[in-house]
Amino acid sequence: MTSSLDQLKATGTVVVSDSGDFASIAKYKPQDATTNPSLILAASKKPEYAKLIDVAAEYAKDKASDIDTKVEVALDRLLVEFGKEILKIIPGKVSTEVDASFSFSTKASVDKALRIIDLYKEQGIDKDRVLIKIASTWEGIKAAEILQRDHGINCNLTLMFSPVQAIAAAEANAYLISPFVGRILDWFKASTKKEYSKEEDPGVASVKAIFNYYKKYGYKTIVMGASFRNTGEITELAGCDYLTISPNLLEDLLNSTEPVPKKLDASQAASLDIEKKTYINEEATFRFDFNEDQMAVEKLREGISKFAADAITLKGIIKEKLA
Ligand SMILES: *[C@@H]1O[C@H](CO)[C@@H](O)[C@H](O)[C@H]1NC(C)=O
Ligand SMILES: *[C@@H]1O[C@H](CO)[C@@H](O)[C@H](O)[C@H]1NC(C)=O
Repeated sequence: MTSSLDQLKATGTVVVSDSGDFASIAKYKPQDATTNPSLILAASKKPEYAKLIDVAAEYAKDKASDIDTKVEVALDRLLVEFGKEILKIIPGKVSTEVDASFSFSTKASVDKALRIIDLYKEQGIDKDRVLIKIASTWEGIKAAEILQRDHGINCNLTLMFSPVQAIAAAEANAYLISPFVGRILDWFKASTKKEYSKEEDPGVASVKAIFNYYKKYGYKTIVMGASFRNTGEITELAGCDYLTISPNLLEDLLNSTEPVPKKLDASQAASLDIEKKTYINEEATFRFDFNEDQMAVEKLREGISKFAADAITLKGIIKEKLA
């Protein structure tokens, strides 16, 4: 019997592993993978990864005189070290995150992205194998536009909870977006105290709407559904360009032989009645439309805050090594 995971792949969906753990990446053989301070923080508690922190600390030792700059250099180097290890076991690209504390500065995000790409280059890794991950704020989307257009650097726009963000990202020619599914469901469950079947899941509906919009209007930006709470959310999006899935849900799909029919179909999007919008040179309209979506505003705020906090914890660990 064909596993649900293989059936999902057969609908044309590229499966990516949402894990910073090399062992599970090796096991599920995803095309691409990701790294960020939160995943590194989880992985670095295991002894086999602790040595990567040593590599980063050693690198940063004589790169600056003050400790805070050293820590920052080491953190960038650590992200790249994890990325490098992941690239040894996957055929595709690794996402590397720009510190979430830069989410409201286009310039700081661009500068950090260029720095990360330089560090990869120092390690002999071409920018073709890297995606720069940036939060989908107005400033972040502008940074992605600059990186794509002026530097040929591919971006993964993350913390995406709304079609408003997705439309602006497509107009910025972002290589990929990762709209969140489970976190949207979490918000609706908490605010309505209701349970949602997979057919009425608001996170699934959000990604479907974005997928159909992109396909109808011919945008090339890849739609990668992310943050799943159960396999139902995943199979409802069968046919989506990419899905990034955590190891435990990959395991469930591998173990199951439930049929997985295609649910999203690019060829059918053309005939759908969807209004065209634009945010090019429309910052105020973008901000207003985004602000109308309470869920998206709250989840973006929370996501940035959480990612930034994990980066601070990781910096604390690095600082101890450097002291
Ligand atoms: C893009 O970022 C998301 C997190 O938002 C991550 O889960 C996903 O794996 C990344 N995509 C790729 C192709 O690296
Ligand atoms: C997957 O299947 C194997 C063999 O049938 C079983 O041992 C394992 O517990 C299952 N895992 C899950 C997550 O159900």
